[in-house]
Amino acid sequence: MKAAPDRILRTAQAAYLDRLLPPRSDVLAQIEREAKRAKVPIVDPEVGLFLDQVVRACGVRRALEVGTAIGYSGTWIASALPSDGRLVTIDVDPDRVATAKRHFAEAGVADKVECLLGPGLDVLRGIEGSFDLLFLDALKEEYRGYLLIALPKLRVGGVVVCDNLLWGGQVAEKVRKKDEAASTEALRQFNPWFLEHPQLRAQILPLGDGTGFAVKLAAAP
Ligand SMILES: C[S@@+](CC[C@H](N)C(=O)[O-])C[C@H]1O[C@@H](n2cnc3c(N)ncnc32)[C@H](O)[C@@H]1O
Repeated sequence: MKAAPDRILRTAQAAYLDRLLPPRSDVLAQIEREAKRAKVPIVDPEVGLFLDQVVRACGVRRALEVGTAIGYSGTWIASALPSDGRLVTIDVDPDRVATAKRHFAEAGVADKVECLLGPGLDVLRGIEGSFDLLFLDALKEEYRGYLLIALPKLRVGGVVVCDNLLWGGQVAEKVRKKDEAASTEALRQFNPWFLEHPQLRAQILPLGDGTGFAVKLAAAP
C-alpha cells in the first residue's frame, strides 16, 4: 500500500479496499515483487484489474500501450484478451523490455504481445492499423503527444486509459517532489485538454493514482 499522502482515499478506506482486492496470479504477484525490489513504477493492482475489466467489457481485440516497463500492466491486458487478440506495447528501455518479454512468456501470453523498442512518439508514428484500447503510462510530459498521434488509430467506441493523472496528489495540490515539477505541470495542462477533447467522452476516475478513462466519439457530422 502507498504512503497515506499519495492516496486519494483516507488511509482506513484504502486499507479496507486493499484487503478486498482479489489475489493476483503467481506471475503478476512475482512482477509486483520484482518491481518493488528494482524500484520500477507499475500501475496499482486495482488499475491492472480495471484494465482487465475494460478489455473484457469492451470486447477489446487490439490494444496499444505506451510504457511497457517490466510487463505488469501488459500482462493484465494480454491475459484478458481473446486468444487471437494482440497487444502492441512500447518502451524506450531495452533492459525493461527484455524483462517484460520474460514475464509475458511466463504468463503464457507472449504470442499475443508485440514489444516495440524506442521513444513512444517516434514508434507510435510508425504503427499502422486500428486499435480498440489505448493505454498511456510513459512520459507524463508526452501524454498529449501520444494521444494526438494514437487517437486517429483508435476505432470509434474504442477506449483510452491513462495512468497517474493525479500524480500522487501533486496535480491538484502542490509539488512535493522537485524532480516531478515538469511532469506535474504537464499533467495540469493535459487533464483539462483530455476532458474537453471534442472526440472524447472523458473523465478521471479516483482509482489508483487518478485513472483517465475516455471513449472515442463518432466524428461530428
Ligand atoms: C510507469 S512505467 C510503465 C509501467 C507499466 N505500464 C506497468 O504498469 O507495468 C513508465 C515506462 O515508460 C518508459 N518510458 C520513459 N520514457 C519513454 C519514452 N519517451 N518512450 C517510451 N517509453 C518511455 C520507461 O522506460 C518506463 O518503463
